[in-house]
Amino acid sequence: MVASTRLSALVALIAFLAPRAAVTTTVIPPASQGQVDPVDNSLDLSGTTTDTDAIVSTVSVVSQKSGPTDDTPPNQPVPATVVTAVDGRLTEAGSGETRRGISMRSTSGEFSKRTTSGYELVFSGTGTNSGDRDASIQGTAYLTYKLLSNATYDVDGCLEFCSSVKGCVFANIYYEFNNELLDFVFNEKSNLKCALYADVHTAAEKTNSGGQQSEPSPAGLTYIQQSSGYASTTLVDPPTPDGYELVFGPSNGANNAPGYMGFAFLEKYDVNACSQLCNTRNADPNGGACQYFNIWRALVNGIPTTYTCSMYFLVADGSTAVNTGQGDLQVTFSRGYRRKNFVFDGGFEGYTACSDFCFTSSYANWIGISVDPGDLDASIFFFAPYAHAGHGSALLGSAFDQDGLPGTLTPASPLKTVAGQHYTITFFHASVYSGRTLEAAAFVQILWNGNIVSTITPGYSAWTFYSFDVVAKGNDVLAFHGGRAPAWSFLDDICVFLT
Ligand SMILES: *[C@@H]1O[C@H](CO)[C@@H](O)[C@H](O)[C@H]1NC(C)=O
Repeated sequence: MVASTRLSALVALIAFLAPRAAVTTTVIPPASQGQVDPVDNSLDLSGTTTDTDAIVSTVSVVSQKSGPTDDTPPNQPVPATVVTAVDGRLTEAGSGETRRGISMRSTSGEFSKRTTSGYELVFSGTGTNSGDRDASIQGTAYLTYKLLSNATYDVDGCLEFCSSVKGCVFANIYYEFNNELLDFVFNEKSNLKCALYADVHTAAEKTNSGGQQSEPSPAGLTYIQQSSGYASTTLVDPPTPDGYELVFGPSNGANNAPGYMGFAFLEKYDVNACSQLCNTRNADPNGGACQYFNIWRALVNGIPTTYTCSMYFLVADGSTAVNTGQGDLQVTFSRGYRRKNFVFDGGFEGYTACSDFCFTSSYANWIGISVDPGDLDASIFFFAPYAHAGHGSALLGSAFDQDGLPGTLTPASPLKTVAGQHYTITFFHASVYSGRTLEAAAFVQILWNGNIVSTITPGYSAWTFYSFDVVAKGNDVLAFHGGRAPAWSFLDDICVFLT
């Protein structure tokens, strides 16, 4: 009995060893600079430059000018910024549908007060004689309006209102006659309107001259008198959105850069709304998550027309902000913002011990950990063919194929995260190195403070983007545990973003 138990144990041992013995003769391990499977989906930037033509042609059809209509009640809260186009398709809000009385969360308050002396006259009204006819502004970035007492032409009261509303930089003050709601319904019993905008408009945009039959005839149609416009003398610098940093701007050039993912038009110049679009944009399967956006104002024949939010999976800068417009279209107030990566050197490009091929278990920015008797079970390579992008990548699994033990890869320092905040871990993973059969056992655990966030078992798989949400406790420790040579896993372009 003893002998047969020993025999079956020996058979089992041979069965266990046999495939490994065969493996070492057929696969050249990564540390010996073996071949990479051609099916690798490494970063390819061809054809990913900003699609300026699509943006320009959408500028020519978008319609997002508005103002208070004859039947809008006063004192509506400023609605959240609406998207008027996505990747060349107009939304309902961008098709010139007039939006009436939509009340969403208020964004007034928390805004440094400007005195009325902080404004200048942009255009004056045409007078209040009985024959005088004027028009109010139909422009972009309309916020809200109120009715002022018409005992006086109360410019100061209007500009104080502008100073109290977040984002307001322009006020249009005017009388509107023959409007039933103003004359008989609204509490103010006044026809002096003060309309606010988050962009500056000129007399060329005085296009709403009334003409509605508001009161029953024989009363006349609505008409406008004494429409003047005042602009803030200092344009408001937008606050940088959480999780981002300003890279360049304001300038008169939009980015023409690789890694472009698409664009949206916004109702107003809202940096925060653009950052939310970037955060929630579907990742590019080859390039990954949105990491950068470029926001700019489009003037058409000098008139504010829309606010473009272009998104990129590569971080651009002012050096490619060279598109100043074409034809009637002029780019203004262009700014670039990068999404902060809380992982330092997530692309392993900081490992530069050679110029062609080398590897290490650790360097200044990353640490590879092997558990006895394992050797080089987590390592960092300088070798462009192994990388998703650039020349650096990390390997999980014995680099010389000396053991089948998993290794652990972790940043050299804890992340500078903030307790309670939500973050997204993103990275690219590839497990094609040793071919379909041997890579079947590939696995990686994503660890956050030692806890398993997820375990991926991709088998044979070209560079693939992954994303996982976590909550921070502050100074968080990110790690990747996996590899079972010859089922190797490569990792690259690791990021942690504020969600
Ligand atoms: C003031 O507003 C009321 C209500 O709309 C209107 O009846 C009146 O004519 C206005 N007065 C002037 C001077 O416009």
